[in-house]
Amino acid sequence: MWTIHEESFQAQAQHHKETIFTIGNGYLSTRGAFEEGYPGDRRATFVHGVFDAAPIVFTELANAPDWLPLVVLLDGERFSMDIGQLTAYARTLDLQTGTLARRLRWVSPGGKAATISFERFTSLADPHIALIRCRITPEFEGTVEVRATLNGNTDNEGLMHWRWIGQGALPRSSEHKRGSAVFLHNRTRQSQIDLVSAMRLVGVMGRRLTEHFWDVENAPTLSMTLAARSGRQIIVDKFVSLATSRDGSDPRALALEHVNAIVDWPAALQANADAWAKEWERCDLVIEGDEEAQIVMRFNLFQLLIAAPRHDNRVNIGAKTLSGFGYRGHAFWDTEIFMLPVFILTSPAIARNLLDYRYLTLPAARAKAKASGYEGAWYAWESASTGEEVTPTWIPDFRDRKKLARVWTGDLAIHISADVAYAARQYWRVSGDNEWMRAHGAELILETAKFFASRAEWNAEAQRYDYTDVIGPDENHDHVNNNAYTNRLAQWNLQTAFQILDWLQQDAPEKAAELIQRLDLSAERLAHWREVIEKLHIHTLPGGVIEQFDGFLQLKDANLAEYEPRTRSMQEIFGIEGANQYQAIKQPDVVMMQVLLHEEYSEASRRANYDYYNPRTDHTYGSSLGPSIQAIAACRMGYAEDAYEHFIRSARADLRDVRGNAGDGIHAASAAGTWQAVILGFAGLEITDDGWRVNPRLPAHWKRVAFTFFYRGQAQKVEVTNP
Ligand code: BGC
Repeated sequence: MWTIHEESFQAQAQHHKETIFTIGNGYLSTRGAFEEGYPGDRRATFVHGVFDAAPIVFTELANAPDWLPLVVLLDGERFSMDIGQLTAYARTLDLQTGTLARRLRWVSPGGKAATISFERFTSLADPHIALIRCRITPEFEGTVEVRATLNGNTDNEGLMHWRWIGQGALPRSSEHKRGSAVFLHNRTRQSQIDLVSAMRLVGVMGRRLTEHFWDVENAPTLSMTLAARSGRQIIVDKFVSLATSRDGSDPRALALEHVNAIVDWPAALQANADAWAKEWERCDLVIEGDEEAQIVMRFNLFQLLIAAPRHDNRVNIGAKTLSGFGYRGHAFWDTEIFMLPVFILTSPAIARNLLDYRYLTLPAARAKAKASGYEGAWYAWESASTGEEVTPTWIPDFRDRKKLARVWTGDLAIHISADVAYAARQYWRVSGDNEWMRAHGAELILETAKFFASRAEWNAEAQRYDYTDVIGPDENHDHVNNNAYTNRLAQWNLQTAFQILDWLQQDAPEKAAELIQRLDLSAERLAHWREVIEKLHIHTLPGGVIEQFDGFLQLKDANLAEYEPRTRSMQEIFGIEGANQYQAIKQPDVVMMQVLLHEEYSEASRRANYDYYNPRTDHTYGSSLGPSIQAIAACRMGYAEDAYEHFIRSARADLRDVRGNAGDGIHAASAAGTWQAVILGFAGLEITDDGWRVNPRLPAHWKRVAFTFFYRGQAQKVEVTNP
C-alpha cells in the first residue's frame, strides 16, 4: 500500500487534488497541477527560503517560475482534457519513490486518438532537478508535437513576484548533442533572490522531424515534432533544474551544471528511488489491520519528508508545508510541537536543521521582545526568512469578506517561545546530542526563559505572578489572563533553564561561564526566575479541573453536541466576539498541556480535564491541530473508542478534505500529529530521561504496528501486536 490513486478527472476537485498530488524533495515542492494547464488551476512550485514581500502578510513564499508546462499536439490539435473525449484516465502518486504518473487516452475534436502518459518526479538524489517523461502512442499517422516551456509569468494568486533578468539557449556542445539546454533567469522584486531554471528536451523514441527554440520573453520554449505511426510509442523527456542565489553566487552556472548532469531518465529515476529507499528504511510505519490508517500514515510521512530541509538550516516548514498558498509559507508552533517529534524520532539530522533555524533567528526573537519592553527571546508567532514577526494584523472577516478582522496572535501568543524551548529539550533528550545543546540549545532555552521571567507580572494583591492579556492555543478566546497552557509552559521553560544551566556547568564550564556573562545571568536574576517559577498562577479546582484561563469557567456553557449536525466552526456560529463569551474551544489547550507534560500529571488530573474539555472542544471544524492531540490523551487514559474517533478524524484531514480547505495546502501539523497519535498514543512510546518503553493500546481491529525510531543515535525497532 504505497499509492494514492485517482480514477477520474474531476475539474471541481482540482485544487484539493493539486495539494494531494504534490511532489517534492525537501528543497522544492510542486503542486499536482497538470502539465498542459487549465484555467483556474493553482499551479505552484515553492522553493525553501525563497520569500518575497507581499502586502498584509509581510512576506510570502514566491511561486517559482513554472517548470511543468508540456503541451502535446496531435496533428496540430492541442491536447486538453476539457475538449475532445477522455476515454481513459488514472493518476497515481507512488509514495515509495515520489513519482506522479497520469495515464489517459484522448480523442481530439478532429478524431485523432492517442494514449498519453506523463510521469514526473523531483529528485531526492539531486534536489535541484525535476523531470517529466511523456509517452504518446498515437492511433493515427501524421505528427506529434511536444512543446516544453519554462514560464516566468507565475503569480501568487495575482501578485507577481518575479522580474525577468535574462534567458537564452546554450550552443550545442558535442557533449550534449541530445537536448541542449535553455535557461530562464528571474529575480524576486523586493528580496532580490535570483532563481535560474534550465531545461533540456530529449527525444528518446520516435523519429524526430524538426526541433525549435522559441525565444519567447519570460517563457523560453523548446518544441519537437515527431513522426506519428499508429501503435508506435513516442517518448520525450523534459529535464529541468532550478538553482537560486541562496545556493551560491552563480545560480545560472549551477542550474546549467545540474541540468546537463542528467544522464537519462532511467538513471535519474534509479538514483531518486535509491534515495527514497533510504528514507523509508528510516521512517516507514507499518500498520496491519487498517488499510486506511496505513495509507494515511505513509501519505503523511511522505508529505512531511518532501518539505523537510535536508541541506539548509536557515528555513523552517510552513504550516501548509510547500504545498499551497495557505499561510504563505509561514511557520508556526506547528513545527515544534507537531512536526518536530516526527523528525526527532525518525530523522534527527532534519530535526537539528529545524532547531538551528530557531537558533539562527534568535536575534529577531530578541528584537521582538525588546520592542515590547521585555528581555530575552520572544519568537514570532508566524515566522519566515528572518524570524521577524510576520503575522498579518488584519485579515478579511470570514463572515463578511469586505470587513476586516483583527488577528491577535502576533501580539499576544507568547507560548511560542516555550514551544520552541520544549522542542529543543525533546530533541536533546531523545538524541543525546550534547554538542548541539552546548552550542545552540542552551542559549535558546536560557533566552526564552529570560523572556518569560521578564514578561511575568507581579500581582501584589494576590501575591503571585500573572501573564495577562495573552492568547493560548485555543484561539477562540483572546486577551485572556493566566492561560494555563502558557503559564505552565513558561514555568516549565524556566525550570528547564535551571536544569540546562546545571548540566552545562558540569559538562562545559567554560561555555556556561560565557553564557552567564553574555546573557547576564546574575545571581539576582536567577533568584527572580526562581520566584516566578514558585509563584506563577495556575488555577486548579478541587475536582482537579484546571481553569483554562481566569474566568473561563464562568463563561456561558456550551454543549457542542446540541449544534450538530453543522458544517461551520463554533467561532463562525457565535461570531468572533460571541465565541469569546462561551466555553467552546477551538482546540485542546489544558489537554494539550497535559499531553506535552504527561509525566507530571496524575491520571486522575488528566481524566478530570479530558472529561471536562473534550465535550467543549470543536473537534469537527475547530483547528485541524486538535484531534490528534485529543487522540493521544484519550489513548493514555484507555478511552479506546474516543481515541480512534479522534484519530480517524485527524487522519482524514487532507485525503478526504474534511474541512474543505485542503486546496490551500497540506495540514502539516495534523499530518504529523496523526503520526504522533499512532506512535505515542496507540503504540504508547514513552521516552524519559532514563530510556524508553512502550505501553501499547492498539485499536481492537489493528493487528500489528511496526516502526523504527532513533534513540541516542541508534535505530530502535519496535513491533507491537494485538493479542
Ligand atoms: C490554529 C493554530 C495553528 C495555525 C496554523 C490555526 O488555525 O489555531 O494553532 O498554529 O492555525 O496551522
